[in-house]
Amino acid sequence: MSRKPIFAANWKMNKGASETEDFVKSFLSKTQGMNFTSEIVIAPPFVSLPKLADLLHTATAGQNAHAIQIAAQNCSEYDSGAYTGEVSVMMLREFFVHYVILGHSERRSIYGETDAKINAKIKKAREANLKPIFCIGETLAEREGGKLESVLRTQVTQGLKDISEKDLNEIVIAYEPVWAIGTGVTATSEQAQEAHAFVRSLIAEIYGPDAAAKIRIQYGGSVKPGNAAELMAQPDIDGALIGGAALEPQSFLDIIRNGS
Ligand code: G3H
Repeated sequence: MSRKPIFAANWKMNKGASETEDFVKSFLSKTQGMNFTSEIVIAPPFVSLPKLADLLHTATAGQNAHAIQIAAQNCSEYDSGAYTGEVSVMMLREFFVHYVILGHSERRSIYGETDAKINAKIKKAREANLKPIFCIGETLAEREGGKLESVLRTQVTQGLKDISEKDLNEIVIAYEPVWAIGTGVTATSEQAQEAHAFVRSLIAEIYGPDAAAKIRIQYGGSVKPGNAAELMAQPDIDGALIGGAALEPQSFLDIIRNGS
C-alpha cells in the first residue's frame, strides 16, 4: 500500500497576514519548476487564513500555489451561537480550508481539551468535509512510566469513538511525543517507528487491516532538515507535522525535499 506523504507546517501563534505573505512568496519562488510528490499543508493562525487563501487560490496563483493545502489549527465542535472566541467549521470552509489540526498536545495541556471534546470536534469537522489532522502522543513521564501504549490506546479509541471507516479514510493521525515538541529533542527513528507501528496496529484492531494500511500517520516533534530523511524512511511514517522548523521557507522546503 503506497501512502502519499503529507508535510504540514503548524505555525502555532506565529505569522500574521504580512508575515504569511512574505513566507508564501518566498516559498513559491523557491519551488518554481518543482513537482511535489508529497502533499504540502500550511496551518496559519485563524486571522491569516484569508491572506493565505488569497495567495494560494486566486486565478493568477501558480501551479505550486494550488498544490498547497490550507489547514486551520482548531475548530469549534458547535455550529454557531454564543461561543465567544470560537470559529466554526463552516467559517473555515469559506477560506478554502481543507484540513484542521485537532487534539494537539498544546490544546490538550494548556486549554484542557479532553478526548471527548476532541472526538466531538473530529465529528464536526467531518460534517463539513474537513480532514482532521488528529494529534496524539505521550508525555515523558508517561513514556518513562511504561504507559506509552496505554496512553496512545486511550487517545486513539476515545478520539475516534463512533467515527466511521469512511470518515477515517479522510483523517490523518499525527504522532507527536510531547517531550519532543519544541524541545530540539527528536524521537529516534526507532522510537518513532515503534510508536507508529503500534498506532497502525490499533487502527487495524478497530477498523481492520485495509483501513490500517491506508491511514497516514505523520511524525511531529523537532523535525528538522537534518533528521527528516531518516525519520521518513521508516515504513510506518508518512510525513511530518512541523512547528519551529516550518517558520522559515527554506527550512520547510528542505524538510519536504529531504523527507520525500
Ligand atoms: O505541530 C507541530 C508540533 O508540535 C511540533 O513542533 O516542530 O516545533 O517541535 P516542533
